[in-house]
Amino acid sequence: MKVIIIYGSPRHTKSASYHVGYKFGEGLKRAGAEVEEIMLCKQKINHCQGCFTCWTKTPGVCIHKDDMVENLAKFREANLAVFATPLYIYHVPGLMKDFLDRSLPLVEPYLIERNGITSHPRREPSNLQKIFLISVAGFPELSHFDALVLAFKKTFKSLEYVGEILIGGAEMMSKDDYQNSYKKLYDLVEQAGFEVGKNGFVSMETQKMIADETHFTDKQIQNLREVATKYWDALRPKDYSNIKIESTEELPLKITDDGMASYFAGMAAQYNSKTIPELSSVIQFNLEGNLYYLIINDNECNAYKGAHPSPTITIIAPTDIWMKMSTGEIDGAKAFMDGLYKIEGDMSLLLKMDQIFSQK
Ligand SMILES: Cc1cc2nc3c(=O)[nH]c(=O)nc-3n(C[C@H](O)[C@H](O)[C@H](O)COP(=O)(O)O)c2cc1C
Repeated sequence: MKVIIIYGSPRHTKSASYHVGYKFGEGLKRAGAEVEEIMLCKQKINHCQGCFTCWTKTPGVCIHKDDMVENLAKFREANLAVFATPLYIYHVPGLMKDFLDRSLPLVEPYLIERNGITSHPRREPSNLQKIFLISVAGFPELSHFDALVLAFKKTFKSLEYVGEILIGGAEMMSKDDYQNSYKKLYDLVEQAGFEVGKNGFVSMETQKMIADETHFTDKQIQNLREVATKYWDALRPKDYSNIKIESTEELPLKITDDGMASYFAGMAAQYNSKTIPELSSVIQFNLEGNLYYLIINDNECNAYKGAHPSPTITIIAPTDIWMKMSTGEIDGAKAFMDGLYKIEGDMSLLLKMDQIFSQK
């Protein structure tokens, strides 16, 4: 059996849906399945343009040449697709919705009747026969998943809906410190994956054990509401009067902008994604009160004006010192030792600056 697991959380591997999906995949592997994974938050997936080119000019082929090309090939090859997604506003996050929208090339434009309602025929060849849904949510009641389950059943109505694992009150499942307390549940999820790989379905017994393990009594729901309220409160500042909210500009700066903005846009343009692949960092500059920051993510770098709320590193320097360092006129390490500028955060990033911004 070939399985594709599609992860939809923007939180990457630090997400509850990832942990559950991963365990399910481990069980499938134990049963001998070949498991491939797609981490949507690490991919480049454009929105569907609604042009229907994949139905007309180039049947089965989308206008976008991005990661969906390979995703759809894998999707077609798999026998079972497992969707592991958080619940966002009763449905999936935009990342997952883009994946679903962009699966349009997998069907033909024609309107046929299936089980009494209008449908599109599948574009062959495709091995995909079954889907399995894994979802997690902040709220504890399972009824929050109703629309999501219905949406998946309708979306893939020509396929077998093998089953689902729905876990409410799951916010803490994304936290590293809480992983041990979910061991029993993870073992059951692994067992469910094993059973799907071996028998094609999750046994009633395992389903019941998962349901028991994830069920919230009325008292627990009441408790969760109170604990969650305290949790969110604890993350908020006690006194708002001292909080200075710096404005940040929404759009990346351009080289054609004036003065320092142009300098930082130029710096971003020198970003070389090949030197440290998958780097994800925010470099904040404070040059005599002039605040700029660079965001490096998804092998891209963009510059912005203002203060980032959680920079990886902050460089606090007199403007002329920084400029002399960036042209190589003075040595950065020596200038730091001489106390000519200050660093807060991840110092190691400073030592990699030459490598990171090495695009000519
Ligand atoms: C934009 C957004 C929308 C959300 N909508 C819902 C919702 O409708 N119902 C709910 O119970 N939880 C909702 N949540 C909470 C998430 O489902 C919850 O944090 C989940 O554990 C995240 O899973 P992950 O760690 O896999 O990303 C929402 C969270 C975000 C960020």
